[in-house]
Amino acid sequence: MQINIPAGSPFDLQNDAAWQAWRAEKLASPPGSIDEMRVHLADPCHPSTQELDKLTALTRRHNWALFATDPAAMTDENCLKQLCESIGLVHLDRNLRADDTGISSIQVRQQQGTAYIPYTDRQLSWHTDGYYNESGKQIHGWALYCVRQAAGGGESRLMDHEMLYLMMRDEDPAMISALMQPDAMTIPANREDGDEIRPDHSGPVFSVAPSGHLHMRYSARKRNIIWKDDAATRKARDFITALFRDDSAPMYTYRLEPGEGVVSNNILHRRNAFTDGDTPDKKRLVWRARFHDRIVSNTIATE
Ligand SMILES: [Fe+2]
Repeated sequence: MQINIPAGSPFDLQNDAAWQAWRAEKLASPPGSIDEMRVHLADPCHPSTQELDKLTALTRRHNWALFATDPAAMTDENCLKQLCESIGLVHLDRNLRADDTGISSIQVRQQQGTAYIPYTDRQLSWHTDGYYNESGKQIHGWALYCVRQAAGGGESRLMDHEMLYLMMRDEDPAMISALMQPDAMTIPANREDGDEIRPDHSGPVFSVAPSGHLHMRYSARKRNIIWKDDAATRKARDFITALFRDDSAPMYTYRLEPGEGVVSNNILHRRNAFTDGDTPDKKRLVWRARFHDRIVSNTIATE
């Protein structure tokens, strides 16, 4: 089947020269410790050029970065929106349960109709955001910000999807080819009270955005996902599952402190289950913003 890949792309399986050059550059900058992935922001609503340059240097190489600020300085959801805008995350994906600002308050809450796991204390399995969105509304960037921690648990796990692609292509390019097929992964229609609020959606796992960047659409959920039933797709799924269980894989486990957050080009991530405490300050609250943009490669001075 025809797959849209821009000319000269390293993600074209026929283009070995471009791939080898991209691969060498990627491996030349391995991600550092959590402390090396963190950028301190004095005023998150108005980050400085130097702070933004540090953030985008990390996201350019690794597709994610941690930021940390004084919790009192992150005054409201609009402050997080301003931080996102300053790195090119502008076009918010407004989902059904977002607040008026377009940012979602991820916390345990009573839900009408279908119970969405993000709003419970259960674990969220590995995924990229918006894997159920239609192809024109894919998510290319997101931000998470920890307002309050739970009494226990709730760690985030993070993995650069480009590293997964690299390891899979090294192992067997036929797996990549399978996951680039437009019918690799299908999400059945979403219905609430008999009304269809989202039609069936098929799409590839790996695709190349018009910008030339690699995009990944993935969920480890067993339910409500229909995978293409062929040997190469099965092998690729098993490869991913095994990688997530491999302690030597390039992934991070980190419990966000209040005042800390993550910005990313929609990398793979999951959330461990957590336990809220009895008092309001021990009930987990994380703000989440999803965007149709990715983070800019270089910041432009705006001070
Ligand atoms: Fe997510």
